[in-house]
Amino acid sequence: MSASVLTGAGPKRSATTSGRAPVVGVVGAGQLARMTQQAAISLGVELHVLSASADDPAVRAGARHVPGSATEFADLVTLAAGCDVVTFDHELVPAKYIQELEALGVRVAPSGAAQRLAQDKLHARRTLAAAGFPVPAFGYARELAQVLSFAETHGWPLIAKTPTGGYDGRGVWTLADAASAARLLDDVDGGLLLEPQLRIDHELAVLVARTAEGETAVYPVVETVQRDAMCRELLAPAPIAPARAAAARSLARSLAHHCGAVGIVAVELFDTADGLLVNELALRPHNSGHLTIEGCETSQFEQHLRAILGWPLGGTALTAPAVATGNVIGPADGSDPRDRLAAALEVPGAHVHLYGKAPRPGRKLGHVTVCGPDPERCRRTAQFAVAVLEGAAR
Ligand SMILES: Nc1ncnc2c1ncn2[C@@H]1O[C@H](COP(=O)(O)OP(=O)(O)O)[C@@H](O)[C@H]1O
Ligand SMILES: [Mg+2]
Repeated sequence: MSASVLTGAGPKRSATTSGRAPVVGVVGAGQLARMTQQAAISLGVELHVLSASADDPAVRAGARHVPGSATEFADLVTLAAGCDVVTFDHELVPAKYIQELEALGVRVAPSGAAQRLAQDKLHARRTLAAAGFPVPAFGYARELAQVLSFAETHGWPLIAKTPTGGYDGRGVWTLADAASAARLLDDVDGGLLLEPQLRIDHELAVLVARTAEGETAVYPVVETVQRDAMCRELLAPAPIAPARAAAARSLARSLAHHCGAVGIVAVELFDTADGLLVNELALRPHNSGHLTIEGCETSQFEQHLRAILGWPLGGTALTAPAVATGNVIGPADGSDPRDRLAAALEVPGAHVHLYGKAPRPGRKLGHVTVCGPDPERCRRTAQFAVAVLEGAAR
């Protein structure tokens, strides 16, 4: 491991790597690592990223490439050897490897135990329910009889999820009846997390940054708008009553403390007639925080670096009365939003982010944020710029 003073000595574990830049290792080199690299440049932090390909988005943005795999322990050790702290842009590292790195004295943020809550939806439901956090009713099924018994209590349709590995709605299905349940059970390994199909008034997300000392900074509540179970838009402030927003922020802060998270925690919530329910946790920068780049005093990417390096956390207030972000998704015709960038840049107020990823239908390729005085206008402008990039603007 590098000769770092980030080993927990002293009352405040802040980064004082005298005479050199702190080095942060990121497992993964996708768009989250790429935007973290953008923030690292401003702070003079060096980023090393572990990934298979030197063509990955964060490497092409200037992060140092450590070739290797997130699921090879030796490669994780190689990454850690050059870094003061190791963090993640995805959930693919086996939790036991994170714990083994910690046992070697590597500073990992967040810890393996905390990560498991983001890696395994069933484990998260069980752990958070046992701790008294509000979660949707849930069950687990390996066999059809278990699905039928859950449906008897909760009715059809049901929502079924793979406990691990799902993202952007891949790994989430609506089951209309026993036949569709039987087909799905045949197709998936490892059983299914089951939930009733909830009536959701708003889907919300709250970001919390937490340091190892337990200091937190909580962001304003964001409404996330999904289509086909994939997040398409972010709206801040979320159009909910102030008391509900305060409850959401307080719930997210409690969750961050409960998990012992270090860095950014994104808490996805369902706002229902029965109150707020915790859907998912991500213990890293998250799509729901992309609007913080222009829309908040401190972007989630800078805040993540501050938190994992033990530095003071930045302000989280919105920079405008309204902020809207739209995700740019690879169009069905396989065309490339980069070819339409110039047209999108003609849209006044549109902050365009493209991730440097090869276009594929349904793949998140970028986002656009608009800040301003009027929520509806921001939303329409962001939607328009996204439509231009996706080749759908008329
Ligand atoms: N129990 C549920 N009832 C209704 N909709 C749900 C339920 N669970 C998930 N969804 C919808 O599916 C989306 C994706 O589910 P989620 O568990 O967050 O998976 P992912 O890991 O793909 O984001 C949610 O944002 C929501 O729109
Ligand atoms: Mg989700």
